[in-house]
Amino acid sequence: MGLLIRNGEVVTVGSRAVADIYVENETITRIGKNLEAPPGTEIIDATGKLVFPGFIDPHVHIYLPFMATFAKDTHETGSIAALIGGTTTYIEMCCPNRNDDALEGYQLWKSKAEENSACDYAFHMSVTKFVKETESQLRQVVADGTASFKIFLAYKNFFGVDDGEMYQTLELAKRLGVITTAHCENAELVARLQQKLLAEGKTGPEWHEPSRPESVEAEGTGRFATFLENTGATGYVVHLSCEKALQAALAAKSRGVKLSVESVLPHFLLDKTYAERPGVEGMKHVMSPPLRAKENQAVLWTALANGSIDTVGTDHCPFDVAQKLLGKDSFVNIPNGIPGIEDRVNLLYTCGVKRGRLDMGRFVDAASTRAAKLFGLYPRKGTIAVGSDADLVIYDHNYRGTISSKTHHVNNDYSGFEGMAIEGRPSVVTVRGKVQVRDGKFIGERGRGKLLKREPQHF
Ligand code: URP
Ligand code: ZN
Ligand code: ZN
Repeated sequence: MGLLIRNGEVVTVGSRAVADIYVENETITRIGKNLEAPPGTEIIDATGKLVFPGFIDPHVHIYLPFMATFAKDTHETGSIAALIGGTTTYIEMCCPNRNDDALEGYQLWKSKAEENSACDYAFHMSVTKFVKETESQLRQVVADGTASFKIFLAYKNFFGVDDGEMYQTLELAKRLGVITTAHCENAELVARLQQKLLAEGKTGPEWHEPSRPESVEAEGTGRFATFLENTGATGYVVHLSCEKALQAALAAKSRGVKLSVESVLPHFLLDKTYAERPGVEGMKHVMSPPLRAKENQAVLWTALANGSIDTVGTDHCPFDVAQKLLGKDSFVNIPNGIPGIEDRVNLLYTCGVKRGRLDMGRFVDAASTRAAKLFGLYPRKGTIAVGSDADLVIYDHNYRGTISSKTHHVNNDYSGFEGMAIEGRPSVVTVRGKVQVRDGKFIGERGRGKLLKREPQHF
């Protein structure tokens, strides 16, 4: 049965026009005015609503053994929350640690998602050590359709790689045409500063930020860029949080380094005073890189508006209150992460588009199209065009609501964005032509999501 979406304002990066969209066999087959609907066609009236390409979150953690515990979501809960918030594809960090076998880890991460995700998904393959079998293992992962790597310059002795391993990873990535994403903080400085602060009796969550100051992130960003420059590889900085790190990234871009930048929702909207709140309230807002001084937010918004920041992800990583309390005696034991998968699109629309910080085209680009292009999903994903997958978000910009853990779908007992107002939300969300969400409710098919195979393209 076909699907006809009638009379919505169709928004892509370069265009806005009222049109009908016709979908057959999971794919957009026609876009135009007054399209005919064969008998039996499902018809959705989108009059007065915006129609966006399905949004893509390029940075999420669903299955994640980390800091003596596990992130809370499963693919079932995470994907439903994502879809309710308008995200139809996410890219999960596949994160075996240094002591794990990389290929076994890759199979494990795949098995967690298979038949459990309601939205489409892909992986960034983390390289957390570089030993003799790494090259052949990574070749197998890329041949399997996972055409992006992840390295951590932080998290010493767990996920973190040293400079030699970073060099080997990037040199291989260059040969394979794979883009490498990177968490950029200097692991040694973080470890030393943590020890120093703890020795001074500074144990609360308010000391998390001073243990990983902006200069530590700027150094990591600059070093990653220098390694890209000298290997010719293509890179992507994840969750860039502050002006100093942005300057390092922009300096590299301006000298021709092939580098893109992602910032994540918490850094646009929350500042370090959230992590300075007493007790567990502060712990809820501990992530890395940390929430920063408020002045950075205006810098990030400006860079996002002008495209210097390419994409907005979430770094979705839910730990509940009991898990956060693992760090009650020492901030270094607070599981790092803030959930956001359900809120990214609505908050970016509200605080970006509605507040005049972001034009509509850039919003679509940053939250969907550019990630699709960088990570080998375009034009299958990331746009509304004949031949593209029918991942569509019919968006009700007249909706008014408030974010709360009492009503959200993420498997977590708090929201980092509790009480924030939203002005707009998806009214209908489709995944390859099937309606999965209507007005804040998941009504679709669990397990519909497919692993998206991607070809290397960064030669
Ligand atoms: O605090 C964070 N960001 N937690 C998730 C792991 C990571 O570094 O992305
Ligand atoms: Zn990270
Ligand atoms: Zn992350």
